[in-house]
Amino acid sequence: ASARRTPEGGLIKVESDSTKYEEEGIRAIFTDRGADVVQGGDGKFSVKKTEKNYEFYTKSKVGKVGLMLVGLGGNNGTTVLATHLANKHQISWRTKDGTQEPNYIGSVVRASTIRLGVDPETGKDVFVPLSDMLPMVHPNDFVIGGWDISGVSMDKAMSRAKVLEWDLQRQLVPMMDSVKPLPSIYYPDFIAANQADRADNLIPGDDKQSHLDHIRNDIRQFKSDNQLDSVVVLWTANTERYADIIPGINDTSDNLLKSIESSHEEVSPSTIFAVASILEGVPFINGSPQNTFVPGCIELAEKHKTFIGGDDFKSGQTKVKSVLAEFLVNAGIKPLSISSYNHLGNNDGKNLSSQRQFRSKEISKSSVVDDMVAANNVLYKSAAELTAETGEVTKKGEHPDHIVVIKHVPAVGDSKRAIDEYYSELLMGGRNVMNIFNECEDSLLATPLIFDLAILAELLTRVTYKPEGEDEHKPLHSVLSLLSYMLKAPLVKPGTDVVNSLNRQRNALEQFLKACLGLEHSGDLLLNTRIW
Ligand code: NAI
Repeated sequence: ASARRTPEGGLIKVESDSTKYEEEGIRAIFTDRGADVVQGGDGKFSVKKTEKNYEFYTKSKVGKVGLMLVGLGGNNGTTVLATHLANKHQISWRTKDGTQEPNYIGSVVRASTIRLGVDPETGKDVFVPLSDMLPMVHPNDFVIGGWDISGVSMDKAMSRAKVLEWDLQRQLVPMMDSVKPLPSIYYPDFIAANQADRADNLIPGDDKQSHLDHIRNDIRQFKSDNQLDSVVVLWTANTERYADIIPGINDTSDNLLKSIESSHEEVSPSTIFAVASILEGVPFINGSPQNTFVPGCIELAEKHKTFIGGDDFKSGQTKVKSVLAEFLVNAGIKPLSISSYNHLGNNDGKNLSSQRQFRSKEISKSSVVDDMVAANNVLYKSAAELTAETGEVTKKGEHPDHIVVIKHVPAVGDSKRAIDEYYSELLMGGRNVMNIFNECEDSLLATPLIFDLAILAELLTRVTYKPEGEDEHKPLHSVLSLLSYMLKAPLVKPGTDVVNSLNRQRNALEQFLKACLGLEHSGDLLLNTRIW
């Protein structure tokens, strides 16, 4: 999972007339097959098969990629930099269990595989690492930098985070003590008051336009100082409170830009970073739950054809929930309630102990089972059915009760504990209670996701498509919903449905990577194993 690199020219070569390897990229024809379904008045579903051809083009040159983290001095930020350096310099360290080598375990890109097809000789499945599907940046090659409102140098910030073993930290100090995060924007109203004592590394003044210009300049400077071909900006700073969506203020891109100009109070630091990235033409990913992407911000990204992704890393509890809830509902079992408790002792937990910041997290953790419930109208009555049954108009269909509690317990540090109870209805009125207790270092879950998000976002900037019959290639839609696997409350193209199912999110990623090579998704039909 660490140092292995893809051979020059790639690991996979598709032998087909519809996949061409050109000097600068891979050109592939892909047929998107689907079905249009219409339900008639008699209740019958009429299904029409659909087919559309696309040409995908993926530029092969990855170049030198910068990763700028907002919140570089936090638990995630320091763990990202330390993990990158330990892998890059092959630093091993001693623990009570022996010598530990660095790796990228937990990264879907670096440590998981995709089934490519079957070996015709043996009939056995052939798997390849996801990172070998298309040319992608290796996390050892990122140039990492970023901002923090806390000006502590990175070695001290790593020690403050208390995530990594001392013997590793000790060896990393000489590589990190000269690195200091860039000064950042601090609007105290957006994060918890208990963060104020960290805020000593600030861009002066309170003029939001000049803050925006400052961040834009930081991105340009970082790019030129390090001679980068591209940059990805990612928010892993404190969770902010929600911004109010106010007509005339942040509802359209023009209004949002005007509100920054007039320093309107509802423009958050994270939105300023997103706008700066959009205007600089670099992807911006939001790893925290707040609504950074107010409607005006999404519209701005669409206008500039730049990329955004979010919200909120999906590292532990929610990931398990999106798997378990889907398992139960797809097994025909009916969850009646899901009750989630968390306690953690790191600075994230301290910030979330404040009500308005907790509320952002509560919202992002709560929507995760919605689509699975909506997909099964055998178990859960739709709003229309409930209205017809009770005579009272309701807009919401039947749904399991769902609560989320988060408490700050300093003693447990970064080792977060998540406790979930799933209470479900079984056959003939029976009941089932399932409890999950999940304990692990939060930043060791989030860090590989940060690498994945940055690697995939950079890749997706190099992919263009052309529908059959059209002349020009276009970039993908600005909202990178293909990153949903790593995000709790996936942002999707306006007007389209959110998919929370972890399996479906991973399939989407796998199928997309295959489509860029002109390969069909082979799925799990395995027909040759079912027939004579
Ligand atoms: P942390 O509190 O250790 O780090 C956040 C850093 O952001 C701090 O160093 C703080 O000084 C800095 N900061 C705050 N406002 C800033 C601003 N305006 N500009 C620049 N820096 C700023 O938190 P941690 O554990 O690293 O988590 C980071 C974020 O990721 C949190 O919002 C958390 O909710 C989110 N997250 C973390 C997950 C995990 O598993 N660790 C999972 C899901 C989300």
